[in-house]
Amino acid sequence: MARKIGILTSGGDCPGLNAAIRAVGKAGQDTYSMRFIGFLDGFRGLVLDEANVLESKMLSNILTIGGTILGTSRDKPHQMLVDGKERDMTDAAIMTYKRHDLEALVCIGGGGTQKNALRLKKAGLNIVTLPKTIDNDVPFTDISFGFDTAMGIVTEAIDRLHSTAMSHRRIIVVEVMGHRAGWLALGGGMAGGADVIVLPEIPYDIDRIAETVRKRSKAGKKFSIIVVAEGAMSRRQASEVKQLVAEKDAAEGRKEKEKASFRLAKFHAQHVNHTLEFTKHLEELTGFESRLSILGHLQRGGSPSCADRLLATKLGSACAELLDRREYGVMIGARGDGFEPVALEKVAGKKKLVPLDHCWIRTARSVGTSFGD
Ligand code: F6P
Repeated sequence: MARKIGILTSGGDCPGLNAAIRAVGKAGQDTYSMRFIGFLDGFRGLVLDEANVLESKMLSNILTIGGTILGTSRDKPHQMLVDGKERDMTDAAIMTYKRHDLEALVCIGGGGTQKNALRLKKAGLNIVTLPKTIDNDVPFTDISFGFDTAMGIVTEAIDRLHSTAMSHRRIIVVEVMGHRAGWLALGGGMAGGADVIVLPEIPYDIDRIAETVRKRSKAGKKFSIIVVAEGAMSRRQASEVKQLVAEKDAAEGRKEKEKASFRLAKFHAQHVNHTLEFTKHLEELTGFESRLSILGHLQRGGSPSCADRLLATKLGSACAELLDRREYGVMIGARGDGFEPVALEKVAGKKKLVPLDHCWIRTARSVGTSFGD
């Protein structure tokens, strides 16, 4: 009897998800004679038992397609909105797993998915995960698929914005995804030759950025491209958040904790439109006409790059190999030319931020890129 494996994609979509589904499915079916059930819309499909058998023809012609044929959501089994109420649906997820007589479940996702997967592992399911995210912030993997494609999109956008910024002698601010980690802003910004790159990891001083723009102008460069990660903060904002987090950590009792969490959530909600404020402020400080371009979900859409197709295929095929060896409870990290299974306990709840001494930062500084610090 063929071994039955479940598979789902969860969290924000990204290019390369279909390439990964295809690789797990094809290697599993063709090399190890497994059968696959695909759950729809992330963990929601597992909880509600919405699933399709992944026939081999469904795995054809999907390598190059963006998004995910399984659909995705940010639902968590232990905190799911059902009939308008938030409920713990972990038991329902386990029931579905048992109903289908699954031997293991493959969860393809980013940071949130690793946490959900660990909970299910602790509840007794056999789990293997793959790291995907355009933010590249999953730890214990060299890189996550989706990141390379998104970096290419950011780079192309900056290339195009250069000519219009030059023609109009303007500042163009480019907002790039990345709430906590600035990999995408850093990589895309460097590849596109941005003049200033503003990351969540390096609180900025807007006067310093204005100074960079003025210096460029004096040197005859009458335009500037400034890449800003959506989670970037000024020094003042960064210390405010630090304070709010400290208050939340120190809060005692449920009510106080709730109040502190509310204050932090309010700060983040108000911070959402900060790049517009940032752009206006820079215009006032420099006198240069300024425009804001928010790349948004463009960065997650469309066909995966060659590098992402290769990475997703490598990790997907490695996943089938691990399933064959019955090595469960791990995320498959990319390590050099190979892969490395990492215990979910080690990965879940952690984020890979840009280290301040990372070689990309040093390189960018050496060619005159400012980080606004
Ligand atoms: O998947 C992570 C991410 O790409 C973030 O960088 C971004 O802020 C977020 O998704 C937005 O996703 P959504 O609009 O789907 O919630």
